[in-house]
Amino acid sequence: MIVLGIESSCDDTAAAVVAEGVLRSNIVATQLDHVLYGGVVPEVASRIHEQYIVPVVAQALASAAITIRELSGIAVTYGPGLAGALVVGLNFAKGLAQALHIPFIGVDHMEGHLWANFLKNPAANDGSPFICLLVSGGHTHLWRVEGVGQYTLLGRSLDDAAGEAFDKGARLLGLAYPGGPAIETAAREGNPQYVDFPRPMRGTEGCDFSFSGLKTALYYYLKRQSSTDIGNNLRHIAASYQLAVVDCLMDRLQRAVQLTGLSRVFVAGGVAANALLRHRLDRWAGSQKLTLSYPPLEFCTDNAAMIALAGSAHLAAGDRSSLDLEISPNLSLADRASRGHVRD
Ligand SMILES: Nc1ncnc2c1ncn2[C@@H]1O[C@H](COP(=O)(O)OP(=O)(O)OP(=O)(O)O)[C@@H](O)[C@H]1O
Ligand SMILES: [Mg+2]
Repeated sequence: MIVLGIESSCDDTAAAVVAEGVLRSNIVATQLDHVLYGGVVPEVASRIHEQYIVPVVAQALASAAITIRELSGIAVTYGPGLAGALVVGLNFAKGLAQALHIPFIGVDHMEGHLWANFLKNPAANDGSPFICLLVSGGHTHLWRVEGVGQYTLLGRSLDDAAGEAFDKGARLLGLAYPGGPAIETAAREGNPQYVDFPRPMRGTEGCDFSFSGLKTALYYYLKRQSSTDIGNNLRHIAASYQLAVVDCLMDRLQRAVQLTGLSRVFVAGGVAANALLRHRLDRWAGSQKLTLSYPPLEFCTDNAAMIALAGSAHLAAGDRSSLDLEISPNLSLADRASRGHVRD
């Protein structure tokens, strides 16, 4: 089965080809225009997706050395994400599937992030249950995963996502968008003990997260400092803030392992690219004899390879979307089964 994946939920226009479960090409056109605004502007994102989608798909096919007639299915993100951005990818996929008389499947973007773990490590997809920490720009979720399409929510952020905490924190610090990589770079050689930022929800019952108080603490801390002090100590402040976010993630993840007794831990989403988080995960998994997986860097942030792979699994299982599938900007992994999919 040769599947074209299409992703357009936010500010990356992406297409990829997966043939018999193996990634053949992966093209991501990141919309740099949003850097000017310090965040994603939905209207701008939709217009650029419209410009990029045809060349990006053509490039994905060419670099996979596949002709369009060889495709046996199309997988496309239909939520969650920005409405105007999702519409571009979904309608393109529907039109192409119609023209080629092949099936298409709507994929949950967050399920795609999770599946990014299997792109280079298919053996990890062995059917045994695991915990997945999904940490991205819009989501911070802890899932118990039993298999394809079987997800139970263990905890979620009650306010900002971890990636959002990085993005908003970076903006307060005068750093570039996206904030995660900017803070990570600024924090290099900084002293993470320099400011004692709060760790919201640490040690509490359940597995929920909260990051808005941390961002507010940074705001008030910066208000009390002179701009010279901030400039001189930027790396220390960034390192302290980064450590606080990572501490919160580790605390809740460790709690989920304790509560479920599961020993397989997967991490996915843009924040999974963070080197401090990876270091802490490695150390913890090693000491607790846990099986740990996170995707290679290029597959942590948005891409269509993860959508093509997740879609391939659904298509292989006989799942199909009908042409009346609509975008679902607030889609949650938990309600996948109830939306617009039929099984052959
Ligand atoms: N090295 C890093 N350290 C910390 N955060 C990072 C790093 N690299 C990327 N991020 C963060 O990851 C987020 C982008 O990830 P991703 O593309 O998965 O999110 P999204 O697609 O915008 O949101 P969602 O997947 O929830 O719809 C941004 O918030 C960015 O700051
Ligand atoms: Mg994403």
